[in-house]
Amino acid sequence: MARSLGRAGATSRCSSRKTVTGRAMVTAYWLCVCVLVPACVKAGLYTSSDQVLLLSPDNVHTLLVNSSAAMVVEFYASWCGHCIAFSPVYKKLARDIKEWKPAVNLAALDCAAEENRKICIDYKIRGYPTVKFFHAYSKADAVGQEFKGVSRDVRDLRHKIIDKLETHSEPWPPACPPLEPTSQAEIDHFFETNSVHHLALIFEDFSSYIGREVTLDLLQFENIAVRRVLKTEDALVTKLGVTEFPSCYLYYPGGNFTKLHVQIEARTFYALALQKLPGVVRSGRPPAVPGDDLKNSTDESWKPFNSSRVYMADLESTLYYSLYVEVAAHTVISGEALTALKKYISVLSKHFPGRPVVMNLLKSVNSWLQSQTADQISYDALEDILDNTAQMPNAALPDDTKWVGCQGSQPHLRRYPCGLWTLFHVLTVQAKNSTASDPLEVLDAMKRYIHIFFGCRQCAEHFGNMVDSLVEVKTLSSAILWLWAKHNRVNNRIAGALSEDPQFPKIQWPSPEMCSACHTVTDNGEHRWNTEEVLAFLLTYFSSSRILTDYLESDRQMLEKQKDRNARYQRDLEAEKHVERKTREASDPGAHPLLSQPNEQEEEEEGEEEGEEEEEEEEEDEAVADGYEDGGEAAPAALSEMKGKPEPTPWIHPESLVGRSRRKAHRRPSIVGMRPRGQQEDIVDLDSFVNQHYKARAVELASSNRVKRRMLQRQKELEPQPVFRLGMELDAALGMVGLQPMEEDFDMDVRQRQEEGRSYRGSWISVLSIGFSKLDISLCVILYLLSFFFLLSMYLYFKKRLRLRRAKTTLT
Ligand SMILES: Cc1cc2nc3c(=O)[nH]c(=O)nc-3n(C[C@H](O)[C@H](O)[C@H](O)COP(=O)(O)OP(=O)(O)OC[C@H]3O[C@@H](n4cnc5c(N)ncnc54)[C@H](O)[C@@H]3O)c2cc1C
Ligand SMILES: *[C@@H]1O[C@H](CO)[C@@H](O)[C@H](O)[C@H]1NC(C)=O
Ligand SMILES: *[C@@H]1O[C@H](CO)[C@@H](O)[C@H](O)[C@H]1NC(C)=O
Ligand SMILES: *[C@@H]1O[C@H](CO)[C@@H](O)[C@H](O)[C@H]1NC(C)=O
Repeated sequence: MARSLGRAGATSRCSSRKTVTGRAMVTAYWLCVCVLVPACVKAGLYTSSDQVLLLSPDNVHTLLVNSSAAMVVEFYASWCGHCIAFSPVYKKLARDIKEWKPAVNLAALDCAAEENRKICIDYKIRGYPTVKFFHAYSKADAVGQEFKGVSRDVRDLRHKIIDKLETHSEPWPPACPPLEPTSQAEIDHFFETNSVHHLALIFEDFSSYIGREVTLDLLQFENIAVRRVLKTEDALVTKLGVTEFPSCYLYYPGGNFTKLHVQIEARTFYALALQKLPGVVRSGRPPAVPGDDLKNSTDESWKPFNSSRVYMADLESTLYYSLYVEVAAHTVISGEALTALKKYISVLSKHFPGRPVVMNLLKSVNSWLQSQTADQISYDALEDILDNTAQMPNAALPDDTKWVGCQGSQPHLRRYPCGLWTLFHVLTVQAKNSTASDPLEVLDAMKRYIHIFFGCRQCAEHFGNMVDSLVEVKTLSSAILWLWAKHNRVNNRIAGALSEDPQFPKIQWPSPEMCSACHTVTDNGEHRWNTEEVLAFLLTYFSSSRILTDYLESDRQMLEKQKDRNARYQRDLEAEKHVERKTREASDPGAHPLLSQPNEQEEEEEGEEEGEEEEEEEEEDEAVADGYEDGGEAAPAALSEMKGKPEPTPWIHPESLVGRSRRKAHRRPSIVGMRPRGQQEDIVDLDSFVNQHYKARAVELASSNRVKRRMLQRQKELEPQPVFRLGMELDAALGMVGLQPMEEDFDMDVRQRQEEGRSYRGSWISVLSIGFSKLDISLCVILYLLSFFFLLSMYLYFKKRLRLRRAKTTLT
């Protein structure tokens, strides 16, 4: 617990920086924070989110020597102003040529770091920043070729890299396709030697780089080859009737050809269009199949949907998953997490474009949460409100996920993270439409939610690296655009990753087909977003009036299910109590005078189980914190499973964990029916069976006694087995002193319970039994009575003897 708090505290200092303005101050702050707080590792000017390899003495040789890809390395000093100014350019370059990685990769080394100094001397670095090019298969003694005059222009840098790539004599980087112009002769025999579906020819001037850039942009895609054709290649130019340079044609066996139609004749548009051609897939990914076949790979039936629309079913599923699964992983919510939750719920209750029944529930959760003045709440207390156990009319949440627009072609793809993005986009748009006062309200809530609750810890970390720029957000519109831009940045970074659904490739969104006005080019042909158009597009796309309600459960169904659930839960509780009472009566027939008052007993049992439950929660919470610490990127509940296994994907998708972190579900007695929510693959089911947990209703009451109970619990833990033993009994007897503090508890209990009109005697049993089973208690009482009678008889015996002796002496 302490560890988890420490960690949360540390990271919070990393993320709550939006108040600090000015890049220098931010940098200085970062330096301080990173020195003080080892948790937020940020090596020099780059982070792991930047798509730049971070060099260190450990990896510099493996990465630079004999690498199959060429390498571009920036040697910099983190204190140097030019380097700080250049770093955004270098990051942008890395994003821009991300697809080229197998042929040429970017790296950076901080020469200001003590441990790197020798490397920088070895590579003959004299000034910062120095950018060097290392050929593929460089020798160990290679010092690289320096880029003269480091440009601040990404396009310029890109061209320089291509120039350097072309200087490769043998061995050519194996992943890099040929970059030289092609000829009629080569084209004629192309399909004899290549087995691709598409050959794209880019006709251009000698000085143009577009052909080579697009060739590299598509090097990670199969079934397509790209070649540049010079304007001077008359035979081909005439044959295809090319009049425009640049332009792109698709060439097929037998000499057929068609022009590739794009909105603007420029690199980005060619690349996007070519990546979308039928049969073109990212290398190593399964070939894309038409939508209908998708249903075979998931358990659920496939729901046809329009992929350019937002569905309420996804938004509600996201609410369900976030509140019932992710937040539920925190049994006790306090401090930063409590603030995050309050802000998240507050934003939802204000801006979620939900139907009245959902809004009523969100509002009730919000008013309950905002009225909590204690510095912590238990998840169980929150869950009662979410479940609407108070039976407020017309208020409910769905009780499961039902993904529509966020369906994935595999159960572990898309779904919740897709829903979460969509939810926050919708919320930023809604905030603008309702003219909220604070432009940062939604993004701040999102930042906190992701930081604390989002199960994908790696995502949270990457996202944390991006929130620095929130200081630039000054208006509600810029908040919308900020989130859009960051989402695209994530799309760029993880395009082609294992978490990408091959059916829904990561693109820079919206595509030209969805919004052509959003895309434009600068004077020199670089792609540029028209942000006004993008904003207009986002405002429409995510507007509440356009959200589709297909596949939604009706209000009535939802309310009925809620009622059933709560009724079933009550019944289960009764049934369980009944069973337990029977067992106890059987094991302890008539010995217990209090057993003759079943009603009181029942109530008290509940109270006492609450105590145990509270106890266990704390311990589990520690386990969760541990999990986060060493597991890093996996959702906590999956950890026990994942340990020891190599990590196949960058992130274990949380969706596969539905039901596991549903704490209450597995805390319920397993002999009676659980609520049918998600799968119930409970890792700790055994515990729940042993401990017989119940719903906590009087959390405050329980928490006031927690410390002492914990002490008692420890005693119980020491017991080797729950089986009754005589030694233990003695322990208990000797432990009368240990039990002493209970008196205070007891008083408090009594006072509180008397207020509630409950009986004194019941609470007495309740308190005594904390940490002990009923059997223990009964035996304890028997033993106590036995020893009492024993002592009494001894006393009477001796008294009698004394009297006899006295009588004797008086007689004598
Ligand atoms: C905060 C956050 C950080 C993440 N970080 C990582 C990470 O580091 N590594 C990782 O592997 N996964 C990460 N993920 C998950 C990843 O971004 C996707 O959510 C997931 O892979 C599912 O992708 P998807 O195809 O459903 O589309 P998503 O990216 O989830 O997008 C959902 C929908 O939003 C729309 N959309 C797409 N782009 C934009 C945009 N720029 N603006 C507005 N709408 C858009 C599209 O309609 C799309 O279908 C993160 C998720 C979140 C919420
Ligand atoms: C370099 O790598 C290639 C294969 O990638 C290997 O055959 C060769 O032996 C390596 N050379 C050195 C010097 O390590
Ligand atoms: C998917 O299932 C349907 C029947 O439900 C079947 O006709 C079809 O061939 C299957 N597709 C694949 C790719 O297996
Ligand atoms: C999907 O929605 C878009 C935008 O509303 C619409 O233009 C398009 O026709 C829809 N597609 C289908 C298949 O319904």
